[in-house]
Amino acid sequence: SNNFPGKAPPVEEGIPFIGGLIKFSNGPLPLMCEMYKKHGEVFTIPLLHKRMTFLVGPHVSPHFFNATDDKMSQTEVYNFNVPTFGRGVVYDVDQRVRSEQFRFVADALRTTKLRTYVPAFKQEAEAYFSKWGDEGVVDLMQAFSDLIILTASRTLLGREIRETMFKEVADLYHDLDDGMRPISVIFPYLPTEFHRRRDAAREALRAIFQKVIKGRRESGVKEDDMLQVLIDSRYRNVYGGRATNDSEIAGLLTAILFAGQHTSSVTSSWTGYRMLSNRKWFEAAQEEQRRVMRQHGDTLDMDVLNSMDVLHRNIQEALRMEPPLVMLMRYSKEPFSVTTSEGKTYVVPKNHIVACSPTFSHRLPHVFKEPEQYQPDRFAPPREEDKPIPFSYLGFGGGRHGCMGQNFAYLQIKTIWSVLLRNFDFEMLDPVPEADYTSMVIMPKPCRVRYIRKKLAA
Ligand code: HEM
Repeated sequence: SNNFPGKAPPVEEGIPFIGGLIKFSNGPLPLMCEMYKKHGEVFTIPLLHKRMTFLVGPHVSPHFFNATDDKMSQTEVYNFNVPTFGRGVVYDVDQRVRSEQFRFVADALRTTKLRTYVPAFKQEAEAYFSKWGDEGVVDLMQAFSDLIILTASRTLLGREIRETMFKEVADLYHDLDDGMRPISVIFPYLPTEFHRRRDAAREALRAIFQKVIKGRRESGVKEDDMLQVLIDSRYRNVYGGRATNDSEIAGLLTAILFAGQHTSSVTSSWTGYRMLSNRKWFEAAQEEQRRVMRQHGDTLDMDVLNSMDVLHRNIQEALRMEPPLVMLMRYSKEPFSVTTSEGKTYVVPKNHIVACSPTFSHRLPHVFKEPEQYQPDRFAPPREEDKPIPFSYLGFGGGRHGCMGQNFAYLQIKTIWSVLLRNFDFEMLDPVPEADYTSMVIMPKPCRVRYIRKKLAA
């Protein structure tokens, strides 16, 4: 029945029925490492009744990122998100409707909108860090999680929620988040207490969003946030030409909160840990802030942030070393062929789960020299190691479904670190923490950092 003849990738037959799952329980990295050594860039492992084919490195990845959804589908592998985001949005709808919904999201993330979010990033960051003392010890991950849900509330969910319902929404988000665990990927509807709380939180959040949307529609007052863009969005005529409904708006806001919250706070944290334990890069970032402040004073707008190359590469390198999304997945709806860097060609059958790992790809020494070392200048001329082969750098994915929030994330993380670099000195009290690969979004284990507020010159 296969009208696309060719050799299938090597299958690791040594793994028993649930063996694949057990091997995954410490995170997929050790397994990928072992299989890559044995089989090379393309291999298949059995996972319950499914087969999962890994594509390691840029040579074998283009089809994964470039193919249309009817060939490389997300629905089958990402629909475990449906009970978190709610019905009628994202992975619960047809791919064409989803791309309409993502068009609405993209409208709220275009440059002209991002420009208006930067003052909110700055205001929230300054207010948050002004509550720190003259000196103290913090866990950056904890602090950034708290701060980023504030900035996300203001720029995405809107003023009403930020100003009058923040605590409620943050608590509900916590329950929703806690209801997404590795087991939820395989059994999203398993009747557990944390899934029950997830479902209750999703409905409570929806009710809050609906109240806010109603208020906006009635008052006619427009705000500069993603909520407003979603309220004002309409499907194209071929999809009915109607406006978004309240339930869809609530679901999309929830999905965006999930896409941006941990990813951004984790990346902000690694940026700090890596800069502080590679002091010369921390000093280079401090020097850059002094230069920028000589030119622009206290002003921190989009253009000023975009001029911060040193800080940018620190973030990019921190994200290379520890991408929060360890595995990106698709589902093959038809067979496709891949050719390895050694010229071997395989045909991946249809109905395979197909996976690319940013974490593993970022550690390939033939792509990134001395991959275990923190070297932000690998992205600067003349090295530019991310450039020669497409899909070498996967921190934000790439191709057809690359991250829509990349610029938002950079602007937000740069604002936070600009405010910190301008106002504090830091010292690591622990070594760079390990990453916890057993959680859904890979994050740093606890780590203490001392801050000391800079004294203003008399
Ligand atoms: C997709 C990473 C922040 C919205 C992705 C993907 C990655 C990623 C790797 C690709 C997933 C795949 O191919 O399966 C990150 C990282 C972030 C970040 C590391 C922070 C440092 C954000 C933010 C937003 C956002 C702040 C929104 C405000 C999205 C959306 C998609 C996406 C909507 C789906 C695009 C699609 O499927 O077409 N992100 N993200 N992300 N991201 Fe981000």
